[in-house]
Amino acid sequence: MSESFPIRVEQRGAVAVWTIDRAARRNALSRATLAAFGKLAREAQSNASIRAIIVTGAGDVAFCAGADLKERQTMDENAVREQIELYRSELRPLDRSPKPVVAAINGAALGGGLELALTCDLRVAAAHARLGFPETSLGVIPGAGGTQRLPRIIGEGRAKEMILLGRQLTADEALAWGLVHRVTPAGESVVDDALEWIRPIAAGSPIAQAAALEAVDRALDVSLDVGLELEKVSYDKTLVSEDRREALAAFAEKRAPRFQGR
Ligand code: COA
Repeated sequence: MSESFPIRVEQRGAVAVWTIDRAARRNALSRATLAAFGKLAREAQSNASIRAIIVTGAGDVAFCAGADLKERQTMDENAVREQIELYRSELRPLDRSPKPVVAAINGAALGGGLELALTCDLRVAAAHARLGFPETSLGVIPGAGGTQRLPRIIGEGRAKEMILLGRQLTADEALAWGLVHRVTPAGESVVDDALEWIRPIAAGSPIAQAAALEAVDRALDVSLDVGLELEKVSYDKTLVSEDRREALAAFAEKRAPRFQGR
């Protein structure tokens, strides 16, 4: 593991795979890790060879054990406040990525680790993964979006159950609650499984996918009437695209479309 850049970067076809490479600390989020996520997500926006991003952790014990509690022991209140701010600024580019982001949850996703997974658009979990928010047992609350994103995904009641009881879900429970989309069979690589599952994304139109993400992300923040107006704005971006014309041409010529993302 390199502390200056603790994320291992790999390109698998059209998909960038970013692996938190801190297994000795169960892939906990240090300041350097957050900064690395921010840098990678900002750069990925303009990199046409990246069609989707998979975020995972090294090894098979932990996806991410949350805040780096060893680093935190060295921090005073102001430093912790700054780090919470860093979560907001450095995970936001991932949250608002115009390219689909998938969490491949290879083991425990706890605290900030689950919050990292919640910033992703899609979640695939290994059969042995555990997902939970232990914060209230540590005298704090989820502070990187967890109290806001979790109820939006699984509903208020279940979110309160997870947060107040510190209840950890198994992968199958998380699937039943809609917290993950898919559970990888035991013994299989969760990254390989996620890559296979998201194959349609690499074949689809980048313009349409970005517009869809923008429209859906906005849906939860506004009234239906406002949302319908915003949907029109996002639709318009696809209407003027070469990708849309290419899809029509491909349909007429009975062939698969070749999308350029223009
Ligand atoms: N920050 C820093 N180091 C961490 C860490 C964290 N969040 N979580 C684990 N580690 C370190 C441990 O201190 C230990 O280091 P050591 O070898 O120097 O003693 C090492 O990782 C292994 O931890 P251990 O607990 O023995 O691993 P495990 O495989 O038995 O269990 C977890 C893995 C993730 C289930 C467990 O480590 C855990 O519950 N971690 C804390 C999660 C948490 O509460 N996060 C904070 C949310 S706010």
